[in-house]
Amino acid sequence: MEAIETRYRTHTCGQLRLADNNKPVRLAGWVHSYRDHGGLVFIDLRDRDGLTQLVFDPDSCGKETHEIGSALRSEWVISIAGEVEPRGQGMDNPKLATGQIEVRVKSMEVLSSSPTPPFTPDEHETVSEEKRLQYRYLDLRRKGMQDTLRTRARVTKLMRDYLGDLGFWEIETPFLTKSTPEGARDFLVPSRLMPGSFYALPQSPQLFKQLLMVAGCDKYMQIVRCFRDEDPRADRQAEFTQLDVEMAFIDRENIIAIMEGLLRQIWKQVLNVEITTPIAHMEYDEAMSKYGSDRPDLRFGMQLTDITDLAHTTDFKVFTGAAMVKCIVVPEGAKLTRAQTDALAEWSKGFGAKGLAVTKVTAAGFDTGIAKFIQKIAPQLIERAQAKVGDLFCFAADKPKIVHKVLGELRLKMARDMQLKPSMDFAWVWVVNFPLFEYDDEEKRFVSTHHPFTAPLDADLPKLDSQEREVVESIKSKAYDIIVNGNEIGGGSIRIHRMDTQQKLFALLGIDDTAQKQKFGFLLDALQYGAPPHGGIALGLDRLIMILRGLSNIRDVIAFPKTQSGSDLMCNCPSPVDEKQLKEIHIRLVLPPGK
Ligand code: AMO
Ligand code: AMP
Repeated sequence: MEAIETRYRTHTCGQLRLADNNKPVRLAGWVHSYRDHGGLVFIDLRDRDGLTQLVFDPDSCGKETHEIGSALRSEWVISIAGEVEPRGQGMDNPKLATGQIEVRVKSMEVLSSSPTPPFTPDEHETVSEEKRLQYRYLDLRRKGMQDTLRTRARVTKLMRDYLGDLGFWEIETPFLTKSTPEGARDFLVPSRLMPGSFYALPQSPQLFKQLLMVAGCDKYMQIVRCFRDEDPRADRQAEFTQLDVEMAFIDRENIIAIMEGLLRQIWKQVLNVEITTPIAHMEYDEAMSKYGSDRPDLRFGMQLTDITDLAHTTDFKVFTGAAMVKCIVVPEGAKLTRAQTDALAEWSKGFGAKGLAVTKVTAAGFDTGIAKFIQKIAPQLIERAQAKVGDLFCFAADKPKIVHKVLGELRLKMARDMQLKPSMDFAWVWVVNFPLFEYDDEEKRFVSTHHPFTAPLDADLPKLDSQEREVVESIKSKAYDIIVNGNEIGGGSIRIHRMDTQQKLFALLGIDDTAQKQKFGFLLDALQYGAPPHGGIALGLDRLIMILRGLSNIRDVIAFPKTQSGSDLMCNCPSPVDEKQLKEIHIRLVLPPGK
């Protein structure tokens, strides 16, 4: 990167090369490291662009500057003027872009001093995440974080350029708004001017982007913050960023092609990796049945094999009494010890299973575990699951939902535990044709699998008039998710653009006429006034950057993230506010005991 020339600097700390020999330059940055070689002081000066070695030689900079140079400490901020020279014979540092030169200091200005910092940019690995988040401005100085922020800035610019060139308008939508259902809890903001009323922070701009299509804006994009009051996890934050996109007059294939073009550009420019397009589509039903997940990780095999028919021919009660029996075959899993396989059964209970049956494949058939119960079906099982001697069979017997959950999770766990070598770096797939609804056993009602504005497949439209659970559960939607390496990095759908269809859908979700008017009256109104067919998608920007940077913690791709408990350790929030502020917004606190 070229520096913008200022009083403090002519170049950045990553810029100078041998070709700049003898050039008078000014540099500014942080003292990264210092070495005093009896008389000569060497400083590595750092900015976000790199490191440049400075030499303080009393013969060049004078005694006074040399003395101040000797007293510099880690993370002080200085600006120097000097001259570029080649490093001494054999002193090149091939690890640094500037490693063939150094700058012989003529004069220096100390711009800021620093006490010994809680950690330096090189020490982060030995520092707790808590401390790093508390001093986030120091943590962000380290190279890894700077590289991530640079990648993030590059990706958002690419997104804007790519979509801008295709005629998308970036349009801002409100943060102080009404609840948009995306399946999470809302963050609420009390209104001062309307006592007792609240805004909700948007879980996504979903309704606004649809209204923009009704408004004739045609192609919309926004890089936008979304707020969901759910428990943060390794790939989830309460406050996260989407690339949000919506288009009028399109079908699923149009939006998919545009997104593939964008992903291709990003992967090419950031990683120099070609994504082969078109990316394959997989039906939701196939993903669940073969991988036990709607975001299948296709970098390795271990597909789920349905053996219900064979299982029902045995005398093993666990199998004969179950609606579904499936298995996965873990390559070379026979080397797992009894203690390890017993632990798997315990582990599986965390996903609602009653147990996990295992057996090992030997030359003579099955051995150990439940071998004695299933010996007679061994040849068929081994053939159907294409198992080899030395493999481990793991069986789950239960309702399909639990079988898929347990084996889907087990597949991932085994890939990790057995350190299976991925068959490719990036395994992409579009999962399509999701069910429109899921039945919520706790609430005893249907909920939307995506959000309630997703259109059903045309062929399933008549089923919206049914009251029967099986029929309603069989309705498929025009929703699609883009998955890479088992991560859902985006999802979208073609929307309902007719008021009557939207009303039917709300009714199936148990939202009666009054509630429809109160919650979504503006949408239903808009759908009456000439809504074009439309659809779109949102990519999770944070997750995308995690994949690009090979990181597993979402906090590492956000400049100022929140912890698992939703706090910002640097600003120390959330935090109590004073009585006066609460009074102004008409709030009285009723706290749980002990708080
Ligand atoms: P959805 O809820 O699937 O769709 O979100 C789209 C993408 O956003 C990312 N994402 C998250 N990232 C980090 N932390 C979170 N808490 C979080 N929640 C979601 C995921 C996800 O794929 N309005 C629809 C999109 C549409 O239909 O156009 C929506 O928000 O990568
Ligand atoms: P049990 O007859 O309950 O002692 O179980 C025999 C074996 O089957 C044990 O290894 C259990 O972990 C396993 N098992 C129990 N229930 C299930 C189930 N629903 N699916 C798969 N394996 C199970």
